[in-house]
Amino acid sequence: MTTHSLLLLPGDGIGPEIMASAGEVIDWFNRRAGGKLFTTETDLVGGAAYDAHGAAISEETMQKALAADAVLFGAVGGPKWDDVPYDVRPEAGLLRLRKDLQLFANLRPAICYAALADASSLKKELVEGLDILIVRELTGGVYFGEPKEIRDLGNGQKRAVDTQVYDTFEIERIARVAFDLARTRRNKVTSSEKRNVMKSGVLWKEVVERVREADYPDVELEHMLADNCGMQLVRRPKQFDVIVCDNLFGDMLSDVAAMLTGSLGMLPSASLGAPDPTTGRRKALYEPVHGSAPDITGTGRANPIAMIASFAMALRYSFGLVEEADLLDKAIATALDSGARTADIAPDGADTVGTEEMTAAIIAALDNLAA
Ligand code: NAD
Ligand code: IPM
Ligand code: MN
Repeated sequence: MTTHSLLLLPGDGIGPEIMASAGEVIDWFNRRAGGKLFTTETDLVGGAAYDAHGAAISEETMQKALAADAVLFGAVGGPKWDDVPYDVRPEAGLLRLRKDLQLFANLRPAICYAALADASSLKKELVEGLDILIVRELTGGVYFGEPKEIRDLGNGQKRAVDTQVYDTFEIERIARVAFDLARTRRNKVTSSEKRNVMKSGVLWKEVVERVREADYPDVELEHMLADNCGMQLVRRPKQFDVIVCDNLFGDMLSDVAAMLTGSLGMLPSASLGAPDPTTGRRKALYEPVHGSAPDITGTGRANPIAMIASFAMALRYSFGLVEEADLLDKAIATALDSGARTADIAPDGADTVGTEEMTAAIIAALDNLAA
């Protein structure tokens, strides 16, 4: 049996609570395989790492992340660390992982499970059967562009500078990921930028168009300004198949898309690097789209589905365990069909379950489906 090594980085807030759920699912797959299909090691990241080492991720943890077959990440941040120096704030740990592992492609699928068609803030008919994929560029743009600073202008004024930078190769490679994935789906890509205001938007559109003309003429491509795209997502979300966009627009559009599925607690993600030319393996990190949810930390109410579905993406994209990934996705749907609802996806006044009960419902569904 091939053994896959996972580095688990639970992080802060609800991170450890939902990572415990992922741990139970990993244990289930190990039991089913009758051996160590997965080995795990757990380490600190974010505020937890800052408290222990004074940095949001230690060099040792970075080395482990580089060596692992995949990283599973919970969430980082929270009010406890609001005043720590900018360079060592919890979120810097996640950004360093993305940058140093060169995880340029962030896949954020927004799927509305049949049982949750009523859970969205939008009308049922708008979201029923929804299956869209946001492909977010993750290692460039305004997140990493230099200069990034607050300058003292010396006259009692300061100037804050963030810089949006994109090179052709960065746009090309994310466009290819989007077109390749569209071919496995409904064959349509919406490229979202703001070419009407930003030079990076002008280049973005130009490059995406060129990539399509050269190598993907069979894929439908439309260009949509990012503000309109946000509006269209809540107006008529089913018009989309794959949306490709830069780092910042992808961050915002994916939180919007999350609500179409019922809750931010439903959205998983995969962050992928380029395939290694010799081994074909790609560095990868899997994490929910949501954050550390300080408002519900410690209450046992966090929805573990985004985290568990992120592990399903690891099965699919890192380990080629497609049947196992399908099984896990089906188990999530079955648990929802059985009526299990954490508070974030329950109608007002309805009975709810906590993180542990939702996890147990998914494990029970795995047992039944695999029997
Ligand atoms: P958040 O995503 O943590 O929470 C937004 C809202 O969604 C909250 O009301 C929260 O309770 C709810 N929510 C989120 N996940 C949930 C889940 N699994 N189950 C039920 N409800 C859930 O965003 P925020 O409050 O703006 O940020 C809190 C902290 O998290 C900040 O420090 C931020 O930087 C950080 N953050 C981290 C990540 C990450 O680690 N990838 C992502 C986003 C935000
Ligand atoms: C996300 C988060 C991160 C981002 C933060 C925590 C750095 O919001 O993964 O969506 O902005 O990318
Ligand atoms: Mn975000």
